[in-house]
Amino acid sequence: MTGVVTGLVCAVCGARESITTPLSWLCPNASLSDRHHVLHFESSVEPFRPTDDANPYLAFRRYLAVDSLGESLGLSDAQRISIITSADDAVSRSAGTGFLRTPLARSDELSEALGFSATGGIWVKDETANVGGSHKARHIFTELLHLLMVEAAGRAPWTLTTRPSLAIASCGNAAIAASTLAAAMSWPIAVHVPPTASTAVLATLETLGATIVVCPRRDTDPPGDPCVLRFREAVAAGAIPFGVQGTENAWCLDGGRTIGWEITEDLGHFADRIFVQAGGGALAACVGSSMRIAGVHPKLHAVQTQGCAPLERAWKNAIATGGARNAGPRWNECMWPWEETPSSFADGILDDETYDWISVLDAMADTGGSPVVVSEDHLHRAYDLVRNTGGFNSCATGISGFAGVLAMRDSMSDDERIVVIVSGVSRS
Ligand SMILES: Cc1ncc(COP(=O)(O)O)c(C=O)c1O
Ligand SMILES: [Zn+2]
Repeated sequence: MTGVVTGLVCAVCGARESITTPLSWLCPNASLSDRHHVLHFESSVEPFRPTDDANPYLAFRRYLAVDSLGESLGLSDAQRISIITSADDAVSRSAGTGFLRTPLARSDELSEALGFSATGGIWVKDETANVGGSHKARHIFTELLHLLMVEAAGRAPWTLTTRPSLAIASCGNAAIAASTLAAAMSWPIAVHVPPTASTAVLATLETLGATIVVCPRRDTDPPGDPCVLRFREAVAAGAIPFGVQGTENAWCLDGGRTIGWEITEDLGHFADRIFVQAGGGALAACVGSSMRIAGVHPKLHAVQTQGCAPLERAWKNAIATGGARNAGPRWNECMWPWEETPSSFADGILDDETYDWISVLDAMADTGGSPVVVSEDHLHRAYDLVRNTGGFNSCATGISGFAGVLAMRDSMSDDERIVVIVSGVSRS
């Protein structure tokens, strides 16, 4: 089986990276002082024909960059399948569940509560039972598979006993997902967290055996999140970036696409719109790019909160400076960190910068979508509806895409078919 991914290209400076290059996390022109680069995958245009497998990394293997990487490094089909299956088995043994397609179904309760007709309504993609309790592990698993493919091909600059530590800056679902995968492989991981990190998350990370690095702001620090600064220092010293920001490791943008492909397989051209909560933007970027590969084009709406909406600002600035498409070279004119200290009930989408904004803007422009900014009132109403009426055990961030539906309900017809992603389980 030949993969469709042909290479990587920076959406900002246009630099190219071969699919064969091991550990190609960053654009060759990115540096510690210039992070405005992000590699995107390039694919040949082919009909979308997944295989029938409960494990999405096998079902969509042909469309995954990590499989093309393994192939280009000389690994056989059987070897690549075995790497994916063994890693998934290890996750299954250690986390209690491996990677399985997640459910997608019409919520009759939510559809009725919002006054949709019998043909329209709300379809919910439920990620709460995914590995690590959110969609995040989908992204990180392809970073792990990349490492395992490179090792199997004998191209890793380390041995099994001298593996460098993994590293992430996060104190939420991404940290839990990364630490879950690291624990499954007995691979050391350093999780960079702020002094304000929740004790419940820290306890989970400790159970998973992660090394927790608390990162208070230092007097000498430049502007920016101290956790990200310390994380980048760790990576500069040899650690492997293992998070969910395409600007730190492009390979998170590979596996995240499985969620969009599953939606496509289940619904085909049926969906009219999809609402996706956007923090760092990797999830919305992956939903958008997966749909393009699969040849379906529901309107994409990226949802942020009034407390932190740098993506909507970027959308407007991009339109004003030449258009929402291909805005990467205009990064400085479009995207910069939100000035106010972000705050919201949906505290998992408060990234002050939407790192993966370029791809999200492309997908919204291509599909006739738009960003949506929701109020705290929308979020609280959405939370009550999704949990009490819909029956999903979601956290506040996990319902924020649905809050976007509430915000836009008056401008949508009753027959529209809307997809939302309930992206994270409630941990309280
Ligand atoms: C449950 C949940 N949903 C959505 C998001 C947003 O994902 P992204 O940062 O890729 O935009 C997060 C991020 O932390 C999350 O935890
Ligand atoms: Zn670049």
